[in-house]
Amino acid sequence: MEQVRRLLQSRYGDRIPLAYVHTYGCQQNVSDGEKIKGMLALMGYGFCESPREANLILLNTCAIRENAEDRVLGTIGAMKHQRVNDPELVLGLCGCMVQQPHIEQKIRESYPYVDLLFGPHVIKNLPQMLYSVLTSHKRAFDTTETNEGIPEDLPIRRDQAFKAWLPIMSGCNNFCTYCIVPYVRGREKSRPSQKIIEEFTALVNEGYKEITLLGQNVNSYGKGLDEDIDFARLLRKLNAIPGDFRIRFMSSHPKDATFALIDAIADCEKVCKHFHLPVQSGSDRILALMNRHYTKADYMKLINYAKEKIPDISFTSDIIVGFPGETETDFEETLSLLKEVEFDSLFSFIYSKRVGTKAAEMEDPTTPEEKSERFSRLLALEKEIGAKRYENFVGKTYRILVDGPGKTGPSYYSGRNDGYMIVDYDGKEEDIGTFVTVKITKSLNWALLGERVEDQ
Ligand code: 5AD
Ligand code: SF4
Repeated sequence: MEQVRRLLQSRYGDRIPLAYVHTYGCQQNVSDGEKIKGMLALMGYGFCESPREANLILLNTCAIRENAEDRVLGTIGAMKHQRVNDPELVLGLCGCMVQQPHIEQKIRESYPYVDLLFGPHVIKNLPQMLYSVLTSHKRAFDTTETNEGIPEDLPIRRDQAFKAWLPIMSGCNNFCTYCIVPYVRGREKSRPSQKIIEEFTALVNEGYKEITLLGQNVNSYGKGLDEDIDFARLLRKLNAIPGDFRIRFMSSHPKDATFALIDAIADCEKVCKHFHLPVQSGSDRILALMNRHYTKADYMKLINYAKEKIPDISFTSDIIVGFPGETETDFEETLSLLKEVEFDSLFSFIYSKRVGTKAAEMEDPTTPEEKSERFSRLLALEKEIGAKRYENFVGKTYRILVDGPGKTGPSYYSGRNDGYMIVDYDGKEEDIGTFVTVKITKSLNWALLGERVEDQ
């Protein structure tokens, strides 16, 4: 890093070179992006919001669905002109998309103006790679799979001052048949709990108000470590750290979620009463084809136990519509599950075929039009369920962490309550990053409106 810093100083003098780093996809990728920016800052880069002003452009890509990849290819295509006209500009790609061999090959062959490419296993090699590109003007590509886990001790430049992402593990061993993640992020690896507790404590001491623990499947946290720990026990340890903050976590795989985890959510006052539990489908036949290792009945057992233990718990989920071979009957089982659980919101996706996964080889006779039609029906039902649920919240009082300006009125500010619902109220700029107490006066389908009341 020091060598790059000196090199940049000799090249740019008093002018601070600017980096444009854009992250696509999930919070794990956002967290990687914060480490990449941490290293770039130490190397002497400033940051800009527009690629036009940049001396270094880095797109931190996502591979989860085809549209995420198409956007990246479109964006780098549009940058060709700028790169060709500015020999000093460095154009780089990193993240999950470029870890796929067919994409790396495509970039090598069809995008010769991309200088730098590295996968999620080797982000700590960025300084060496950048040094090599800046001095040799040769392309540097590295998609080595190390399976070393989360790199420790890298500098982090966090995007926000009051909400932080904290990865507790990396990779995934589940091989859901539709999913590319195990191929690009490698095998599951947990961080030692001591490292997590140290980072967490430092964040609390710096004044962070919400810390989200990240992993592809946080419920298998602890496997393979030399210590006797699991996710429920980690939550209890973090909850015991003194301070006024909230703990969130994502994502949970239902096959590994336990009653002990639900008990920990119930007992720990700092852990949000919100359970994001991706179900993907309500059909046992499709769940088996997806290699999910649970049935609708298993899923409902968890939901019902959580409802019994934590009556005001909020559930959200991920749903895939149009998995290969999904019939109308399978889809209706998903709709019936949604009615039974009454999720507060959903992240729903139309199935996207991923090269190299098992599902990509399966027969998929359903037309794209039928899939879109099912998707619209799912959204309509989600809206109906959400509207009905949200009406019950009128008159209740919530503590919300204020994120920024709201969308519902000129002086409105917006935050989220414990249950992850958006709450807008008439507020002030100083409220951003603090907890305020709001009494709900009105419900919209996607948010709640309220008035600030005295903190209780
Ligand atoms: N097509 C559509 N959605 C997908 N997801 C993962 N892979 C695919 C795919 N190939 C969704 C799942 C997962 C979320 C992060 O993305 O619902 O839980
Ligand atoms: Fe993909 Fe399944 Fe792993 Fe989640 S648990 S990252 S959906 S393979």
